[in-house]
Amino acid sequence: TQEKKKLAGMPKVELHLHLEGTLEPEMLLNLAENNSVSLPYRNVDAIRAAYRFADLQSFLNLYYLATQCLRKEQDFYSLTLAYLRHCRDENIAYTEMFFDPQTHLEHGVPLTVVMAGISAAQKEAEREWGVLSGLILCFERDRPAEGTIALLEEAERIGGIIGVGLDSAERDHPPGKFQETFAVARALGLHRVAHAGEEGPPEYITDALDTLFVERIDHGVRAIESPELLRRLREEQIPLTVCPFSNVSLGGFGSLQQHNVGRLLDAGLKVTINSDDPAYFGGYLTENIIATWEALGLSFEQAVQVQVNAIEGSFAEEQKKRDML
Ligand code: ADE
Ligand code: ZN
Repeated sequence: TQEKKKLAGMPKVELHLHLEGTLEPEMLLNLAENNSVSLPYRNVDAIRAAYRFADLQSFLNLYYLATQCLRKEQDFYSLTLAYLRHCRDENIAYTEMFFDPQTHLEHGVPLTVVMAGISAAQKEAEREWGVLSGLILCFERDRPAEGTIALLEEAERIGGIIGVGLDSAERDHPPGKFQETFAVARALGLHRVAHAGEEGPPEYITDALDTLFVERIDHGVRAIESPELLRRLREEQIPLTVCPFSNVSLGGFGSLQQHNVGRLLDAGLKVTINSDDPAYFGGYLTENIIATWEALGLSFEQAVQVQVNAIEGSFAEEQKKRDML
């Protein structure tokens, strides 16, 4: 339809995207071979067959297994450039991308290597295609907070991050543990976001706001359980970076038709739609937007509002935001 074409063609912004979650099976097999990493999968079909997840943890197990194949600067460059090429093809003008350095460090890959590869791809995508991007360093909440301040300071010495985030297994891992680290990030003038209310309770959303001083909530769909929190999120217009395909893949909702993003929008929240880990969850940003719009019967105006929310909720410079609106 005409409206569908308009949605596909309009300039878009993505605010919740894990670079490691863009690792497609073909690239994964190539990297495994080049870097002599043995995987329990022989071919693309076997990898795709493993994409059936019961919950967040079952996905993370595969996601972290695959990250073992990312070793060299070139690997991070190729991964990032492939995603930014998707952005070009989908008219995503600006994207804020997460990465998980602790996992790579554990595999013996230094932060300098990871960031050099990502940064080279960001520069190339901007120069060649005009696709702008920001980079957000995520701490994994199921690891100790110990060492995260040093990691943050090293990233600042290298340069190139616009903010910090919090991801990985949410259940039984409240945000408070990272209070000091996020305070340092804030003092350094960095932006702050956290995954909260994906699988964890609404209290984790409140805690992320009150103890980490986050400016956005990643996912946040369980806010629906607390009328008081819904009121706060609406009054303070805290952006939620909702990821519909991801939530359905990980069992948060039985189907896209049952997703609550329409209700969150109706409640006046500053909702955005994003792809999270598109290689694993069945589609990139445009597909998330269009399929969600169709499944929930959202209005065209609501679909456009979601993109306005993403521009306004982004960490782009004010002038850049005005240009995009
Ligand atoms: N890391 C990658 N994707 C994630 C998600 N959806 N939730 C938490 N951590 C993640
Ligand atoms: Zn995520």
